[in-house]
Amino acid sequence: MTASTLGQRCFAAWYPRFMDRVDRAGQAGLRRAQLAAARGRTLEIGAGNGLSVPHYPAELTELVLLEPNAALREQLSTRDDLPLTVLDGDAHALAFPDASFDTVTASLVFCSVRDPALALAEVHRVLRPGGRFLFHEHVRGTGALGALQDLLTPVQRRLADGCHANRDFEALLAASPLTVTEVFHTRMPTALPTIAPLVIGTAERR
Ligand SMILES: C[S@@+](CC[C@H](N)C(=O)[O-])C[C@H]1O[C@@H](n2cnc3c(N)ncnc32)[C@H](O)[C@@H]1O
Repeated sequence: MTASTLGQRCFAAWYPRFMDRVDRAGQAGLRRAQLAAARGRTLEIGAGNGLSVPHYPAELTELVLLEPNAALREQLSTRDDLPLTVLDGDAHALAFPDASFDTVTASLVFCSVRDPALALAEVHRVLRPGGRFLFHEHVRGTGALGALQDLLTPVQRRLADGCHANRDFEALLAASPLTVTEVFHTRMPTALPTIAPLVIGTAERR
């Protein structure tokens, strides 16, 4: 099991309270919409302190929560009504066989991973053919907002454990081996403009 870095411990000290407020302001409903299609054996990458956990359908055969930050793993919320496993791990090298999940999910994670293209290739590898990737990410905006996000990303990376405000997640997804089947754009209910634009949707392993 890996120990948390100072940056990870700082992030774990403020993120759960910050995000809990955002969830209460409406983000929880977006998580529920994202996760309603989860089926069978399901993997969540970068589960954080588990804000998505209450929103999974109770019919899952197993929910595996992967979280590399030990200080967040300790705070992970769980469920008694479905088989649930919490694991340390890295999206760049998922420690699971090919085609071993029916569903993979990620919420607000691809802004932080070092190599999103590699992580998306790993999502594709561990999904069974026909399996679905359910995503929910904050992304780069357009015009002046995009320019502001470019400007503030170096600061945001330092303050928020590597979070890029200006990742173009849809372009990364389009270049990945996954096939996008559903996308909608909305806004995070927060006053912080750098993380407001959201993309939520579904991609499949064909
Ligand atoms: C902004 S938090 C989101 C947490 C949670 N998914 C949520 O919606 O509240 C980003 C998460 O991605 C995780 N993360 C960052 N790099 C990762 C990687 N390479 N593999 C797996 N998780 C990673 C972080 O530890 C953190 O829990």
